Amino acid sequence: MTEAEAQSKILDLSKKINHYNYQYYQNSISEISDYDFDMLLNQLIELEKEFPQFKMDDSPTQRVGGAITKSFASVKHKYPMLSLGNTYSEQDLLDFDERIEKAIGNDFEYICELKFDGVAISLIYENGKLTKAVTRGDGVQGDDITQNAKTIPSVPLSVPFKGTFEVRGEVFLTKKRFEELNIQIAEENKKRENEGKKPLKLLANPRNAASGTLKMQDSSVVARRKLGCFAYSLLGENLGFDSHSASLAQLEKWYFNVSDSYKKCKDIQEVIHFINAWEIKREKFPVETDGIVLKVNDFRQQEILGFTAKSPRWAIAYKYKAESASTILESVSYQVGRTGAITPVANLKPVLLAGTTVKRASLHNANEIERLDLHDGDTVYIEKGGEIIPKITGVNLSARQPSAQKIQFIEDCPDCGTTLIRKEGEANHYCPNLNGCPTQLKGKIEHFIQRKAMNVESLGPETIDQLFQKNLVKTPADLYFLSRENLMELERFGEKSADNLLSGLQKSKEISFQRVLFALGIRFVGATVASKLALHFHNIGNMLAATRDELLEVEEIGDKIADSFIEFRSEEKNILFIDQLKKAGLKFELNKEDIVTVDQNLFEGKTFVISGVFESFSRDELKQKIASLGGKVVSSISKKLDFLVAGDKMGPSKLEKAEKLEIKILSEEEFLAMVERLQV
Ligand code: IVH
Repeated sequence: MTEAEAQSKILDLSKKINHYNYQYYQNSISEISDYDFDMLLNQLIELEKEFPQFKMDDSPTQRVGGAITKSFASVKHKYPMLSLGNTYSEQDLLDFDERIEKAIGNDFEYICELKFDGVAISLIYENGKLTKAVTRGDGVQGDDITQNAKTIPSVPLSVPFKGTFEVRGEVFLTKKRFEELNIQIAEENKKRENEGKKPLKLLANPRNAASGTLKMQDSSVVARRKLGCFAYSLLGENLGFDSHSASLAQLEKWYFNVSDSYKKCKDIQEVIHFINAWEIKREKFPVETDGIVLKVNDFRQQEILGFTAKSPRWAIAYKYKAESASTILESVSYQVGRTGAITPVANLKPVLLAGTTVKRASLHNANEIERLDLHDGDTVYIEKGGEIIPKITGVNLSARQPSAQKIQFIEDCPDCGTTLIRKEGEANHYCPNLNGCPTQLKGKIEHFIQRKAMNVESLGPETIDQLFQKNLVKTPADLYFLSRENLMELERFGEKSADNLLSGLQKSKEISFQRVLFALGIRFVGATVASKLALHFHNIGNMLAATRDELLEVEEIGDKIADSFIEFRSEEKNILFIDQLKKAGLKFELNKEDIVTVDQNLFEGKTFVISGVFESFSRDELKQKIASLGGKVVSSISKKLDFLVAGDKMGPSKLEKAEKLEIKILSEEEFLAMVERLQV
């Protein structure tokens, strides 16, 4: 290879790798398999070794880490890293709003953002390149953790603007990644136990774990932890923005990871609405959050408001209440789910917390019991944040009785007595007795008849229980072979209720193949996955005959789902189950109108604005869907715009503007109808 060829290849590989990284970490789109990605990266590493003169200082190979930092140098912040004032009540917010209005009048807007519960970071870019990353420290000076920050995939190593500026953001571990890391540690500990070594400590929570990771000496270990970073402010001189929202939009254009959860609010009532909307929604957010930050949008107004010694006067944090209490752990019981997953539940001495009496707390899995090192009769601290079910956050060790026994996770299913299993890499224990464990069997029937699946009305858990007790039904297929007489045997069942149920079952035979497939209750095959599989394979025969590779070809189907489906079809009982359902007249092939030619470039060259909130997906998911079909999401409505996807609660001014410019407005249903058939 000539030097010129090497240089151009290095450039080309770097561009590709940066693109795949961005799509994966910021848009959650995998355009390439892990294997192919590693091949590209290895190719680049090799070329850079052979031609070091062409290695760029923002090369994506730096993400792999390797540099060791023995001690972190102290760096003084150019702009001090302040904190935010905290509020906990609506009244505090109204007072804050009043203070602002007094200072600048009533013509101002807020930007509301989530308050991410991670670690603050300052990223310095000089001449467009990331030159320094510094922790908050005491606010005046922090630690230089540049080598570690460079391994974070969502921190750009360079941007397409050759200026000098500083970006502030929050480094985090997603809730999912935190769980995965603890599973890895638990597995490592099993090995250690066998070797007689001291066990490693499980990570306490995502925030501590992120903070500890940033201060590790070996950056290759940091790289493997896969930290994330949300950017939330841009600082610098003469950057030319006059508002916070404009600077966020610029950060997005420079490929920073700006969470799209932020919203412009025209008054404090809208802010309160935002706060209430996120109180529950934040549980589903991939990163832990502990509140909302509201910031006055206009920079000139921010300047007028200024700072106190500790915090800006133009911003404040509203913290969700995480009320806590302490009580006694009376026992741990274990629940069996539809798929056999075992969930431990703490039974507590009843205690009043945030207005309700709490008797139980979820313990998630064995790792959680291990992490808390729970013993019988422990005095535990419980907390209720946005979550509905409280969680145990710690144990008061000084109150532990010396004779207290450590809680041992059960070995057998509490329902059917079968020995539990725990698959490698999974946090949950399972009861493997899929076809005999009563709770699992009843759970499967409940899943089968639910609204999103076969939608059999007039059949509730009590009736299922009776049918089960009387040995009339063991699998959902048996439902279709029930007679009127069978049903009349049930308590509280007359002719009318029997006929209602029979006609509900009859009606369910019209349900589409997509939903029948979901109703089967195959592990990891949720409604969306079932729809993707059905639309890809058209009928059950093709699915049962598909090779593993063919299954993996379906969008969004990875190893876990493919293996689960293969395991399902390898069981004779399941094939019999499908045959019985077929005999009963259920649909096992697509309706003709659902079979359409695939056009993965449906939205090629088309631009979209997304506005409002949606029922079936988050804005991120919607963005991804549009991007995966070749479309582009932009932020403002202009004449050139092709579509406005209008959700609930979208601002009237946007709608008005779109109507005036005669832009095609799609409702959530219309958008779904456009793309649903293409999910192949
Ligand atoms: S703005 C002057 N925005 O909260 C401080 N901070 O107590 C401006 N944080 O140290 C910070 N999410 O680590 C801001 N969307 C967000 C945030 C956020 C989390 C953290 C940040 C800061 C602390 C302030």
